[in-house]
Amino acid sequence: MYSLLLLGSAAIAVAQRGYSPPTVEKCPGYENASKIACVQNYAAVLPYPFERAKTVNGIPPDNDTFVDTAVPSDPSFSQLQNASFVVFNQARGLDILGINPKVEKVFDAPPADSIHEAPVYVPELNAVIYSLPHQGIYQQQIVNLNSTPPTLSNFTTSPPVYAVNGGKYYKGKIYWAVEASFPFPNPSNASQIVHQAPGIYMLDPITREVTTLLNNYYGQLLNSPNDLFIDSVGDIWFTDSWYGYAINVTDYPVLAPNTYRFRPSTGAVSIVENTLQQPNGIGISPNGRTMYITDTGFTNFDNAPVDVLPRYTVNPLGGRTVNAYDINFSPAGNYLTAKRPIWYAETFGDDGFHVSKEGYLLGAAGAGVDVLSEFGELIMRIEVEGTVNNLQFAGSKRDEVWLFGFGGIYKVSGLGQIHGMADE
Ligand SMILES: *[C@@H]1O[C@H](CO)[C@@H](O)[C@H](O)[C@H]1NC(C)=O
Ligand SMILES: *[C@@H]1O[C@H](CO)[C@@H](O)[C@H](O)[C@H]1NC(C)=O
Ligand SMILES: *[C@@H]1O[C@H](CO)[C@@H](O)[C@H](O)[C@H]1NC(C)=O
Ligand SMILES: *[C@@H]1O[C@H](CO)[C@@H](O)[C@H](O)[C@H]1NC(C)=O
Ligand SMILES: *[C@@H]1O[C@H](CO)[C@@H](O)[C@H](O)[C@H]1NC(C)=O
Ligand SMILES: *[C@@H]1O[C@H](CO)[C@@H](O)[C@H](O)[C@H]1NC(C)=O
Repeated sequence: MYSLLLLGSAAIAVAQRGYSPPTVEKCPGYENASKIACVQNYAAVLPYPFERAKTVNGIPPDNDTFVDTAVPSDPSFSQLQNASFVVFNQARGLDILGINPKVEKVFDAPPADSIHEAPVYVPELNAVIYSLPHQGIYQQQIVNLNSTPPTLSNFTTSPPVYAVNGGKYYKGKIYWAVEASFPFPNPSNASQIVHQAPGIYMLDPITREVTTLLNNYYGQLLNSPNDLFIDSVGDIWFTDSWYGYAINVTDYPVLAPNTYRFRPSTGAVSIVENTLQQPNGIGISPNGRTMYITDTGFTNFDNAPVDVLPRYTVNPLGGRTVNAYDINFSPAGNYLTAKRPIWYAETFGDDGFHVSKEGYLLGAAGAGVDVLSEFGELIMRIEVEGTVNNLQFAGSKRDEVWLFGFGGIYKVSGLGQIHGMADE
């Protein structure tokens, strides 16, 4: 029976029951929009053979996505190649797409070999301050949204801060997760050497003064705080992964890649999570009940060469989940229970991570942006040519999404029911 079937399929193409073309269609109401496409039924059945992401020397590329899949027997699939918005869940996706959604590249933002991270929208300035965590870059940058087109300039704080990787706005201040421990020259006066340890820093965006809030764990250097979130009582939750070592701005880690709660009112730092390979992005649901932490254990530090940056190799079997947790009250600060993975990234993982006012989860997925429901369903993907390390809601209505990546800064505008939270 089996061999007969095999013989038959060699002779003629046998239609596969379950596959109902076309896989990709125009979205209802967006028939004329060339950059918007709807995937039917999550493409659950594709006509085989199809092929995605050939490995190179055993390593998968870190920039391919679902839309790069070759599906030769379904011509409709090629519509995804040029789409900026790829909708999987129409019921919710069409709410997010507004009347004229579009993605524009606003800046090239050199150097192209640096990630762009920690974008934070400051409503008092109508500007986004972001960072270039890269060996030898000692100041941040600011996108001024008051002018048309927006302008980009350097942003130096007092004292200067080296290698900011995560940032959130909270009640008029910017909170930074900072990676570097190596001394560096003051960008305003190269004869002064600045000493700093990895930790949590607070920036007054108006005066540009920076205050250190936390710079050690009982005398040990933190590894390299990656991202953070400030909860409604002012406690700071931060991931402490190993990427500062990867980009050579701090020493080899001595602490496991954990997630902590730092309570500024007492100074206490408490571990809240230790099961992820490399905890990365972090966010809280608008009702304050659910914590989300992403894992980018796809980057593997075992036996990575020390003289090639970044110091990790790619392990497709490593962690690449978004995890949800229940937040529980305790008088010493909230704690997490009921860990559940809710999304396994179809790319290398979700890096920068933000939660919208409506509860949508936005993950910068290296190649493009994942827009997930609060339950982790993929609602849509925003695709750009370059990579995306992080993103930020911006504008006076917080209805734009700015994307930051290697060599480019993009603006997503014209969206519908999706907005940033006031403190995020
Ligand atoms: C698409 O374009 C056609 C022809 O210009 C027009 O008749 C139709 O109303 C448009 N559809 C939408 C959804 O805008
Ligand atoms: C991924 O990056 C490689 C190397 O830069 C490039 O050749 C390739 O075209 C990229 N693939 C996609 C799908 O963007
Ligand atoms: C995608 O865009 C390229 C370049 O503009 C064009 O040549 C190609 O036909 C487009 N593909 C589809 C499926 O629209
Ligand atoms: C920012 O400062 C760097 C030196 O640290 C300089 O090379 C670059 O031109 C400056 N960029 C802008 C936009 O002023
Ligand atoms: C730069 O720093 C050095 C050492 O602290 C100091 O002597 C010098 O006056 C500073 N230069 C300027 C222009 O502030
Ligand atoms: C790492 O940084 C140290 C100190 O700045 C430098 O001596 C070393 O050459 C750097 N290593 C690499 C691989 O860039």
